[in-house]
Amino acid sequence: MTITVHRGALLHFLDDPAIAGDESYRYSEDGALVIEDGHVLAAGPARQVMAALAPDVQVIEHDDALIVPGFIDTHVHYPQLDIVGAHGEQLLEWLDRYVFPTEAKFSDKAHAREVADAFLNELLCNGTTTALVFATVHPQSVDAFFEASEARGLCMISGKVLMDRNAPEYLRDDPQSAYKDSRRLIETWHGRGRLRYAVTPRFAPTSSPEQLAAAGRLLREYPGVYLHTHMSENVNEIAWVEELFPDHEHYLHCYDDAGLLGRRSVFAHCIHLSDMEWQRMADTESNIAFCPTSNLFLGSGLFPLGRAQHHGVHVGLGTDIGAGTSLSMLETMDEAYKVQQLQGQSLTPFKSFYLATLGGARALDLEDKLGNFLPGKEADFVVLDMAPTPLLKRRIEATDDLFEKLFVLSTLGDDRVVRETWIMGACAHRRDGTIPPIH
Ligand code: GUN
Ligand code: ZN
Repeated sequence: MTITVHRGALLHFLDDPAIAGDESYRYSEDGALVIEDGHVLAAGPARQVMAALAPDVQVIEHDDALIVPGFIDTHVHYPQLDIVGAHGEQLLEWLDRYVFPTEAKFSDKAHAREVADAFLNELLCNGTTTALVFATVHPQSVDAFFEASEARGLCMISGKVLMDRNAPEYLRDDPQSAYKDSRRLIETWHGRGRLRYAVTPRFAPTSSPEQLAAAGRLLREYPGVYLHTHMSENVNEIAWVEELFPDHEHYLHCYDDAGLLGRRSVFAHCIHLSDMEWQRMADTESNIAFCPTSNLFLGSGLFPLGRAQHHGVHVGLGTDIGAGTSLSMLETMDEAYKVQQLQGQSLTPFKSFYLATLGGARALDLEDKLGNFLPGKEADFVVLDMAPTPLLKRRIEATDDLFEKLFVLSTLGDDRVVRETWIMGACAHRRDGTIPPIH
């Protein structure tokens, strides 16, 4: 039984700031995070928390730092790491021109493993400790990703893409093989250590109704698995779905009909939903990944966060690499703020940090394990450097309160702010390079 104390400024959320206001978070300027065997034992003001501990307990001091729970990325594609920032297209053309050719390379498991290692090391550099991750249509792309995640002890959710139409022949499966391959992957990986499986139809245009029905069957047969897909991202995509599914009332209906909605279902984007679709999202406790850098980069539109709040739909932040342009959740918060500004809304930094931590854990139905520092939670956390560059040092020193400090971090911050990333109480990344990345 080893106990370690991390001493420094500490911030975590207990609820959504839009609902609970000042009661939504706990901040201790001189805080202590106590960890026992990879789990949180206690967190709070150092004087109070440390009084209950043995005097010779190991204490790690974090000066000029803010300790927060590990960031949670609720939508990202690891195979698209090598096409980030590809010029000139909107969604459907971008898929044809950049995505499908790069995803074809994942039939080679060695290539998949090399990219998975690079991707996970990038996540750790950015303070992201859990993610919901698209693989490709190839089952071996999922094996490679989970093997790389397991080697790092990470809590990750992923799954094989289901895609049996409107994609190049070399990337297509069929309803039967998709079902069989997914079953094999679920039985191998779902619930193994910290890993979870997501049934992953790419989006309605690339799955036949038979394949969506097979996805629904998997969810019924394996009640703990997730559903991960895209919805209502781009206006041409929505028009195409109307053509392909003429008997369905709206986009969401295609998924609903197949039994794909629910509290472990995550839909990326949801920019252009109708009132009926919003209501159905709420009624089924389905979740949304808001991906601002992607939505701006592909010119998809502005996500109406206020409507999600109004309907009580859980939202997390997603980087959506490679349509998104950064794996940094801080940069993602920056763009989320601007997307709300363009709609006359002002996203607070408390809400941004909530979305990147507890909000993400709620959207991924992992609140019992992750998202904050309540006792018993898994000890994944990030040590943010409050003076990482001369400009950030000046700017943060000029702030008066926590609100301003968090806003500067989210507006000017990126991976340079992430001093250390800890997984289950063990250090997995140090910006100074003293911990070598795993390959
Ligand atoms: N819709 C279907 N596939 C994709 C994808 O790979 N990225 C994004 N952003 N949207 C999609
Ligand atoms: Zn995506």
